[in-house]
Amino acid sequence: MTTLNYIPFDSHVHFRRGAMLRTVVPYTARQCWGAVVMPNTATPHILTPDDADAYRNEILFASHPVVGENFVPLVTGYLTPKTDPIDIAHGYKKGKWHGMKVYPPGATTHSNEGVAARDLLTHPALPVMADIGMPLLLHPEVNALHGDIVDPYDRERLFVDTLEELLYRYPTLRLSVEHVTDEATARFMMSYGKTGQVVCTITAQHLLFDRRDLHEDGWQPHLFCYPILKRKKSRDAVIALATGGFGFVSAGTDSAPHPTHAKERAAGCAGGVFSAHIMVELYAQAFANAGALDKLEAFLCVNGPRFYGLKPCPGTVNIVESARAIDAMIAIEGGDKLRPFGFHEDPSKAFKLRYRPIFH
Ligand code: NCD
Ligand code: ZN
Ligand code: ZN
Repeated sequence: MTTLNYIPFDSHVHFRRGAMLRTVVPYTARQCWGAVVMPNTATPHILTPDDADAYRNEILFASHPVVGENFVPLVTGYLTPKTDPIDIAHGYKKGKWHGMKVYPPGATTHSNEGVAARDLLTHPALPVMADIGMPLLLHPEVNALHGDIVDPYDRERLFVDTLEELLYRYPTLRLSVEHVTDEATARFMMSYGKTGQVVCTITAQHLLFDRRDLHEDGWQPHLFCYPILKRKKSRDAVIALATGGFGFVSAGTDSAPHPTHAKERAAGCAGGVFSAHIMVELYAQAFANAGALDKLEAFLCVNGPRFYGLKPCPGTVNIVESARAIDAMIAIEGGDKLRPFGFHEDPSKAFKLRYRPIFH
């Protein structure tokens, strides 16, 4: 058995809005005391401090029946070419939002209103954010270059120059490189990572799987997410980063729910893995595989909140060995269905969980 002396925190999660939000928030609230919530809500995105306020209230309303007042959503804003730096600073100082998220247009789900890498470097928000210490969260992918579509497996490594350029231009900027998947980004973090200033998050699927798993049996839509799973060499580099005991690396599930009709269809597949229901189980399994369960507590509970200026939340979580499988689909009000990661109608194909967290 492994014991955590703090409650987990998810540094990167998608809740959506409405019926989907009401369905998924309880899963995160049961395992985490707080989470950094992504702003690509699409209907519309979280564009202003007032949007952030309303969104926070919607999340609290959904978590209340499960954990009462005990859930802390840190809402982020969606950076567009038009975002006003004054709005950004005002919302940050009032505690309405806790960072600005950048999506290169076309790089991922609901990213079309975002900011391309080359425009980001001169966005008027950046000097203001560097000045007030407000985090910039990056989806680090280049999807188009010189008018051509970039190979999905190269998108992340081609963003590394932008990361270096950002730090060169704004040495005090606080950056969170979201969901590291490529060995080039892992290398960048090993050289530039700095607790409290240049940090990154890592998902469970990028620790447990690589592209061989994505292409198993032809194609696994429920392992398809942005950035795409890379080859084993990259996965190994990401595992080394996650389990290396660095204060600048934290768990961010990137749990990204899509109804099954958007993932299981004749053409196209929405990117995103819904993993919030088994966050602790998956990370524990990945750290156990690497013989690094002693490094799990800092990664899962301490490093994430620290970057956002919060103390870790004391509590006891016993992680016990216990084999099980996810045994049911999740129904969403209105008739949609959500496939929880790991569930398969054929039990022999369901993901085999090896751990179970017991919260005290
Ligand atoms: C995320 C989503 O569905 O919102 N999808 C994903 O594949 N990761 C967007 C994102 O985090 O890039
Ligand atoms: Zn992303
Ligand atoms: Zn995400």
